[in-house]
Amino acid sequence: MGSTGSTPTVTAVTVPDAAAMQDLGRGLAPLLRPGDLVLLSGELGAGKTTLARGLGAGLGVRGAVTSPTFVIARVHPSLTGGPALVHVDAYRLGGGLDQMEDLDLDVSLQDSVVVVEWGEGRVEELSDSRLEVRIERALGDEAPGEGDDERRVTLTGLGDRWAGTDWAVLLPAGAGEPVDSV
Ligand SMILES: Nc1ncnc2c1ncn2[C@@H]1O[C@H](COP(=O)(O)OP(=O)(O)OP(=O)(O)O)[C@@H](O)[C@H]1O
Ligand SMILES: [Mg+2]
Repeated sequence: MGSTGSTPTVTAVTVPDAAAMQDLGRGLAPLLRPGDLVLLSGELGAGKTTLARGLGAGLGVRGAVTSPTFVIARVHPSLTGGPALVHVDAYRLGGGLDQMEDLDLDVSLQDSVVVVEWGEGRVEELSDSRLEVRIERALGDEAPGEGDDERRVTLTGLGDRWAGTDWAVLLPAGAGEPVDSV
């Protein structure tokens, strides 16, 4: 719905622990450009914010990327002259896109990388092209939030923007220090 005719590009990776999830975010950052929309989906505690934290580190933005519990969206300006990261919790964005436009962020979404948790069915209209990142717990893991547990992450690039993306850069689940959580 809303995407162009090009074939989606899909890749899936296994992520053993939270540090590796941050590394995945760091690895994804170089693929992102101003105006990109990234939708993070997965149940409570799946690791959406953990991935976003790594993305923020990889993009070199200011401020800790945390659960935007008390705000719907938070702008993290770049420290390196790149795009800002706009981190949105759409769970609370009942009104969808209209409400998003009403947020009055002091940054243009076209100039930013917009990462949305719980965005499915709410913010797709922001962009014809988008990257959908689905995080799933490995089967049999029934202790959410306790310790590190394997996740399966599926990345689907929809629209012309993502046609022919070389996902290989993500596969050597990178080195790098975990980012401190707050
Ligand atoms: N492989 C893994 N990847 C990511 N997080 C993991 C993994 N294993 C365990 N965890 C833990 O799961 C939790 C994920 O929390 P996080 O806030 O990132 O989830 P979320 O999807 O953003 O949740 P919410 O829906 O509440 O926003 C953290 O406590 C993290 O340490
Ligand atoms: Mg979260």
